Amino acid sequence: MRNKIGRGNLLITLMSFLFISVLEWWAFSQHGTWGLYNWNYDYRYLLNIIIGLGFLMPAIVLVLWLLRNRLNSKWFRAGKVFLMVVSIAVFVASLAVTFFVVVPAYSLVDSTEPVLTVEPHSGSFGIPNAYIYFRTKTATVVSVQWGSNTGIHTFSDSAPTKEHFVRLSDLRPGTQYFYQVGNTDRKTFTTPLLSSTNTGTLVTFAVGSDFHYGGADEDSKERTQGLKTISNDSNINMFFMNGDIVDLGMTNKYWTRFFNDVNANMTTPIVPVLGNHDTLIGGLYHFEHYFYPKQVSIEDGNPLYHRIDVGNVHFLVLEVLWGTEEFTPSQKQWLESELKSIPQQDWVIVISHCFYYSSGDVETGREWSDHVDTTKQISPLFEKYHVDLVISGHNHHMELLSKDGVTYALDGVMGGGLPAPRTIISRYSKWLYADSRGFLEVVVKPNQAELIFKKDDGQVIQHFVISQNQQ
Ligand SMILES: [Fe+2]
Ligand SMILES: [Fe+2]
Repeated sequence: MRNKIGRGNLLITLMSFLFISVLEWWAFSQHGTWGLYNWNYDYRYLLNIIIGLGFLMPAIVLVLWLLRNRLNSKWFRAGKVFLMVVSIAVFVASLAVTFFVVVPAYSLVDSTEPVLTVEPHSGSFGIPNAYIYFRTKTATVVSVQWGSNTGIHTFSDSAPTKEHFVRLSDLRPGTQYFYQVGNTDRKTFTTPLLSSTNTGTLVTFAVGSDFHYGGADEDSKERTQGLKTISNDSNINMFFMNGDIVDLGMTNKYWTRFFNDVNANMTTPIVPVLGNHDTLIGGLYHFEHYFYPKQVSIEDGNPLYHRIDVGNVHFLVLEVLWGTEEFTPSQKQWLESELKSIPQQDWVIVISHCFYYSSGDVETGREWSDHVDTTKQISPLFEKYHVDLVISGHNHHMELLSKDGVTYALDGVMGGGLPAPRTIISRYSKWLYADSRGFLEVVVKPNQAELIFKKDDGQVIQHFVISQNQQ
């Protein structure tokens, strides 16, 4: 009798193959996965095994079919048993991944604490609007009061709802505002001065990154202290949370910890910036829903890359996670058209999670220093259009670098693990510090900016003054 694989066996194999193929397609279609594959060789190894498992089944079928007339029935049957074991194992593993990874990736936290966020849309007085957004488990009506000495606004949901959104619009420069959600404590923040004198301050902002809520080597005490320090400094008008906010973007309990901590310890409006850890497998769905609900108006760009104008100071937030994997032709085109449109005498400050020029080390098989892709594909645009300052995280240290007129700053680490010794020093490095956690504060004036690197308790580590890039 001729050896046959059998229709039933083929059907099971085909189902398993399709199942794992769809999962692999899904995983690689998520933002950040190609970066993970390219920049972390430990995960590349794991992903290669998973991809290999998918192709093992058709390979076994092919081998059995080619040898169907050569193998005796005993060996052929053994081959079929092996095929079934692999197919059923792959099917069960795919089912487990669906339930434990894919389903949670699309399940949002029922309730989140209110957080004040900068809206990438300016009001009538040249200051970006801000909004409070939060979710409640049951549909309720929540009232929010906000205002200043000159007037108070009261907002109430028009009907019971689980999603609450309040816009604080047309904010005036140099004004202290308060906001109060329901019966909770009043919180305050101060808007940018937009001073009209030559030496006055336009805006003061802080940038911190790599919070890693939920990470194995997080320091939650120092992270919370950092939030309090920034929040208690009424000179700081906005806080860029520059990526790697949570350790795993698809894990809701980490997002809950983030919302609880920021709600309890920070009153300054935040600008959430996407990092590679925030996107991890399916995390983007959470980031977009928690920070950029449909009511948010983005004047120029999208939730992942956009422009925020504070008078003549222009922030360009980019989606650069691991490298250039998400720096698509459309993001590049957008960046170039923004850079072209901004007058030379205005400030252009780029903020992205991943770095460009940087000192670093070798991690999981790749050099995490002077980034081989971002410096080739993105930095030339910064140089061509005389970007004044580029601030990034990803490498967990503080650094100041300068290359062809562009100043690059790494804002340090604000909760995640301290870095391993920096064994590679960039030739463009002016100053490097990796001994403690902290953040960067920037005071922007018409012709120069002060860069103050601080520890989480506010102690100054180093202070620099840079001029505008007028090359
Ligand atoms: Fe990080
Ligand atoms: Fe990162």
